[in-house]
Amino acid sequence: MLKGYADHWGLVTGASSGIGAEFSRQLAARGMHLVLVARREDRLRGLAGELEAAHGTRCEIVPADLSQPHAGRDLLAEVSRRGIAIELLVNNAGFGLVSSVEQTDVGRALELIQVNVTGLTELTLLMAQEMVERGHGGIINIGSVVSFQPVGYMGVYAASKAYVLHFSEALWAELRSRGVTVTALCPGTTRTEFFDRSGVPGWAERNWSEDVKTVVSTGLKAFDARRSYVVSGWTNYLLSLAVRLATRATVVNGSMSVFRPRVAPH
Ligand SMILES: NC(=O)c1ccc[n+]([C@@H]2O[C@H](COP(=O)([O-])OP(=O)(O)OC[C@H]3O[C@@H](n4cnc5c(N)ncnc54)[C@H](OP(=O)(O)O)[C@@H]3O)[C@@H](O)[C@H]2O)c1
Repeated sequence: MLKGYADHWGLVTGASSGIGAEFSRQLAARGMHLVLVARREDRLRGLAGELEAAHGTRCEIVPADLSQPHAGRDLLAEVSRRGIAIELLVNNAGFGLVSSVEQTDVGRALELIQVNVTGLTELTLLMAQEMVERGHGGIINIGSVVSFQPVGYMGVYAASKAYVLHFSEALWAELRSRGVTVTALCPGTTRTEFFDRSGVPGWAERNWSEDVKTVVSTGLKAFDARRSYVVSGWTNYLLSLAVRLATRATVVNGSMSVFRPRVAPH
C-alpha cells in the first residue's frame, strides 16, 4: 500500500518510450517525483523537462542498461546514494523477440531473459525487502496477455511474461498483509515501439490495439484497488480466460498462425 503519490518517489524502468513514458506522465500528474530509467538518455531528459514543467514535480535520470548483470542492484545503489526512498517501483522495461527457432539470435534471447526476468526479479526483490521493512510501498510489474499462454515463434518472450505474472501473484499473496502491494499489469497489443523493435514492424498498426493512456490508467486503477493482476481491455481479458478452457496443445497450436513467418514470394 502506498503512503501516497504526491511528494513521494516512484521509479519507472523503460521510461524512454511507450508504456513507461505514459506511466511517468500519469504518476507525475498525481504529484509523484520520479526516477526515470532506460538507455536512451536524451529521451529521458526530454521527458523529465516535460514533467517538471507540467506538474512541478522532480525527476532524476539514471541511464542504465538493464541487460547487464546486476544492473538492478547498481541502479538501486545509485538511487540510495542520491538520498531517494522509492515508494512505487514500476518494472516496465522489456522487449520482445519474434523469430523461428532456426533464425533466433541466441544472444538476444538470453538478453531478453536478463531484462524481462532476471533484472526484474533483482529489482523487485531488493525493493520489496526495503518496503516490507518500512511497512509500505508498491510494485507494478508489466506482464502481458501472453503471460497466460505459450506462443509459437515468440516462445522466449511469452515464457518471460508468464514468469512475470506468476512471480508477481506470489509476492502479492505474500506481502499484501504487510503493507506492500504487488500488481501485474497485463496489456494486449498496445501502440508503442514494441513490435517495431521485436522483429515485426507495423504489427500494432495492422492489428487491434490499445493506446498507452488506456493501458496505464487500467494498471493504476487495479493497483489502487490492490489487485494481484489486471488484463487491459475486455477482449484481451476474455482471451486470457478462454485459454483455460481449451487444451494446452490446442492453445499453442492456435498461436502458431499469429507470428508464422511469411514465405517470401519468388
Ligand atoms: N506494446 C505491447 O503491445 C505490449 C504488450 C504487452 C506487454 N508489453 C510490455 O510493456 C513493456 C513496455 O513496452 P512498450 O510497449 O512500451 O515498448 P517500447 O516502447 O519499446 O518500450 C520499451 C522500454 O524498455 C526499455 N528497455 C528495453 N531494453 C532495455 C535495457 N536493456 N535496459 C534498459 N531499458 C530497456 C526501452 O528503453 P531504451 O531502449 O531507451 O533502453 C523502452 O523505454 C515491456 O515490458 C513489454 O514487454 C508491451
